[in-house]
Amino acid sequence: MKPKKKNIQVGVFDSGVGGLSVANYLEEHLENIQIQLVQDTQNIPYGNKSPDLLIELVTPLLHRMVEDGCEVIVIACNTVTTNIISHLRKVISVPLIGMEPMVKTAAEQTKNNCIAVCATPATLDSDRYKWLKEKFASKVDILEPDCSRWSSMIEANQVEHQLIKKQMKDACQKGADVIVLGCTHYHWIEEEIQKTVAGKATVLQPVLPVAKQLKRIMAGLD
Ligand code: DGL
Repeated sequence: MKPKKKNIQVGVFDSGVGGLSVANYLEEHLENIQIQLVQDTQNIPYGNKSPDLLIELVTPLLHRMVEDGCEVIVIACNTVTTNIISHLRKVISVPLIGMEPMVKTAAEQTKNNCIAVCATPATLDSDRYKWLKEKFASKVDILEPDCSRWSSMIEANQVEHQLIKKQMKDACQKGADVIVLGCTHYHWIEEEIQKTVAGKATVLQPVLPVAKQLKRIMAGLD
């Protein structure tokens, strides 16, 4: 009989239920994993906060996760990743896997040369996001629908379905044929968005590549 592999302690961090959507996916798709989910619901939304304030809020929580045994941490938050992950990598002693808007893949996939990126104001404002656009999508039209209230609506389970539908239909009408979900909270309305834009656009979010990267890191830790 093969000896049973020991579980690897994986931290998943977000401001709220976006982290839960990622944790559920990882738990379902990876073996030998024990997830510790931390959600900073006291301070949600992160999407309207400055990088300095994010550093102040997130750093102690990640230190605590390491103390509690996490061997690798998934930053299941585009806002944190795009604004402060390079800082966090300097101060946190375990590998960090970030999640950020899939601008490169969207730019490769669009046939109309037009994509829509749905993300928090802080993500859209970050240097990392601006760099992604410049580096991979400088010749692509990028629509940025106003999603500033989406994460709070989703966190409170009070989604304004008509508003979301209208915004996504508008994006398609303006020519977007790829919709990038650049906030993990939006994973909860991914199906709804897919149905709304069916036949006109595809929807992208990074949980699959993140799971693959995590698997590679876990193999190295084993
Ligand atoms: N789920 C987070 C993200 O991916 C942040 C949502 C928020 O707190 O505003 O950006």
